[in-house]
Amino acid sequence: MARTPLVAFFNRPKMIDYPEGATPLDPDEMDGLKHKHVTTRGELDHLEQANIQNGLQWMKKSRKKDIVNERFVRDLHKKLFGDVWKWAGIFRTTEKSIGVDPREIAVNLRMLLDDVHYWIQNETYEPEEIAIRFHHRLVWIHLFPNGNGRHARIMADALLMKVFGKERIDWTGGYDLQAMGDRRKEYLTALRNADQGNYAPLLAFIGLTDKAQ
Ligand SMILES: Nc1ncnc2c1ncn2[C@@H]1O[C@H](COP(=O)(O)OP(=O)(O)OP(=O)(O)O)[C@@H](O)[C@H]1O
Ligand SMILES: [Mg+2]
Repeated sequence: MARTPLVAFFNRPKMIDYPEGATPLDPDEMDGLKHKHVTTRGELDHLEQANIQNGLQWMKKSRKKDIVNERFVRDLHKKLFGDVWKWAGIFRTTEKSIGVDPREIAVNLRMLLDDVHYWIQNETYEPEEIAIRFHHRLVWIHLFPNGNGRHARIMADALLMKVFGKERIDWTGGYDLQAMGDRRKEYLTALRNADQGNYAPLLAFIGLTDKAQ
């Protein structure tokens, strides 16, 4: 897989092995790749991973606690993916198999941010549950052409750390969540349950089993 040429990889989106639950890029989005020398999926993964590490440092260092707003949501995506992709931090304009109609992204995000503010003010749920509900609604809207899972996991962590002063979520549980293993299967099943309004499996997934009865 690390040796799959990118041209074949992106021109035949139905035939390449994206991990389940990932969103293929269309050719225009592929044009947004800043490193034209990249030829394999392995090289791309590597570049993205390095970019994400820098973005994480930015998130942790930033003193800003006011993160439940469109500016921060987009800035974080740009910091995580902007060295690699030109469209980082810009809302998706194409349809994907997951996510709302691209024309409805901004309004759906506004509703979500309003809900999160309300949950925080009214202590509607425990902080961890607010974080995973935030996470799920972000991936459900699917704001960006790619990187939604990774961005929304870090966004949930930022909420826990900066708004609630709590530890970040252990999403991987020691496994590689991006590879198609049991941990990713469990994660995707939990998200599909959340799509139906049942958040118990997602709470169990992050280790809050007592609330998952
Ligand atoms: N049925 C679903 N309901 C809600 N969210 C989903 C569903 N299926 C997948 N997702 C989310 O979409 C993400 C994949 O989208 P995308 O490829 O944009 O993100 P990514 O960061 O590139 O992927 P990854 O999560 O593998 O790092 C998954 O990680 C998951 O968070
Ligand atoms: Mg992806």
